[in-house]
Amino acid sequence: MTSRRVIDRSRLAQQMAAEQHRFVESHPRSAELAAAGDRHLLAGVPMPWMTRWPGAFPIHVAAASGAHFTDVDGIEYVDFCLGDTGAMTGHRTVAPGDASTTMLPSVDAAWVGDELARRFGMAKWQLTTSATDANRFVLRFARHLTGRPKICVIDWCYHGTVDETLAILGPDGDVVSRPGAIGPQVDPSVTTRVVPFNDVDALDAALAHGDVAALLMEPALTNIGIVLPAEGYHAAVREITRRHGVLLVIDETHTISAGPGGCTQAWGLDPDIVVMGKPIGGGFPVAAYGVTDEIAAGLDGVLHGHDADVGGVGGTLAGSAMATAAVRATLSTTLVDADYDRMIPLATRWADGVAAAIADHGLPWSVQQLGCRAEYWFCPLPANGADAAAAVDDELDAFMHLWALNRAILMTPFHNMALLCPAHTQADVDRHTEVFAAAVDELLG
Ligand SMILES: Cc1ncc(COP(=O)(O)O)c(C=O)c1O
Repeated sequence: MTSRRVIDRSRLAQQMAAEQHRFVESHPRSAELAAAGDRHLLAGVPMPWMTRWPGAFPIHVAAASGAHFTDVDGIEYVDFCLGDTGAMTGHRTVAPGDASTTMLPSVDAAWVGDELARRFGMAKWQLTTSATDANRFVLRFARHLTGRPKICVIDWCYHGTVDETLAILGPDGDVVSRPGAIGPQVDPSVTTRVVPFNDVDALDAALAHGDVAALLMEPALTNIGIVLPAEGYHAAVREITRRHGVLLVIDETHTISAGPGGCTQAWGLDPDIVVMGKPIGGGFPVAAYGVTDEIAAGLDGVLHGHDADVGGVGGTLAGSAMATAAVRATLSTTLVDADYDRMIPLATRWADGVAAAIADHGLPWSVQQLGCRAEYWFCPLPANGADAAAAVDDELDAFMHLWALNRAILMTPFHNMALLCPAHTQADVDRHTEVFAAAVDELLG
């Protein structure tokens, strides 16, 4: 006899209703935090799988140690979930009272959603373990919402190890794999359209095919030197994407150098989705994506409730208590206006020093700055990624890096870039200028 026949379904429904009542009655603080999370977290939680618990809302964890954790209503639990293996060693405390990973939202979750919304203007947020993951997930959302198969990226972009984005324009204007990209899943022209930065006509033509779900772009290129947008470019991008029904995803992972809310805040951009990575956890692996209310409403069915996607979007350690605590610790204390007030003038000083040495030596090189990030390039200011890529000079690059390293200056690998933090001093910057000028002296004999 199957359980379906012996179990009285209407009685079960009553039992379930009683349990739901008991749950709600005994978890008033979790209920409050869940309501707070609804303000600025997609599905009310930092990671969608956290909605897959049977109570009316997820319990919120206050502390965990060993095989136990305590929720914010003071109830202590034996934890047989252990963050779905992430805490298999038993919960360890990083700071008194912190849990590491539980598959449940922590007390910091709502704060993080509120703060990201305040900075970037996107209504609803979630956390991922990397910017790569954030980009992968939002591309899935875009295909889901639009029913279109392709994405569009900017020539010579970089958005992490995201298959669809590892593409450039080949010599004939065809979409080809990015040089050095190992083992593409499929020919990238199947998944991706590529357009040059600062070229609105090319964008219009690419999107006119009607098969693109999203344009994923950095607001300024930062992964092939720094290329800034031409006057009016972003307004045109927004108009063109809207006209073609294409979602606009702005990846601020590097361009957070422009200010506390990246270029989106600094330049008043109006994207559908923002991705933010690297520094928001102060070195802890965590990233985030934020969407407008409209996109959030479209995703409700796939990120919330029984049919939520627990395969393609998420990650067991995404939005963990430790990651959420890391974001709160970082964004409540750093990457704030006062830091940028210190970092940006230092970057300007760095760029001015390099520009002066370039001019003194009559070299056809350039230096570009975006907030607290500055980079020199071995050609006059390029207008797009292909121009910048054409000026790549591996030998010169290796020399400049090693020259600096041998004089106790570490430059970012794959870049001639300096990123300034609040702890840098003018003396640090001036030392670079001196070493750079000496390198150029040496080069020109
Ligand atoms: C603009 C941009 N987005 C995303 C990423 C990927 O970040 P992660 O490697 O942390 O996933 C990078 C990495 O450099 C990046 O530059």
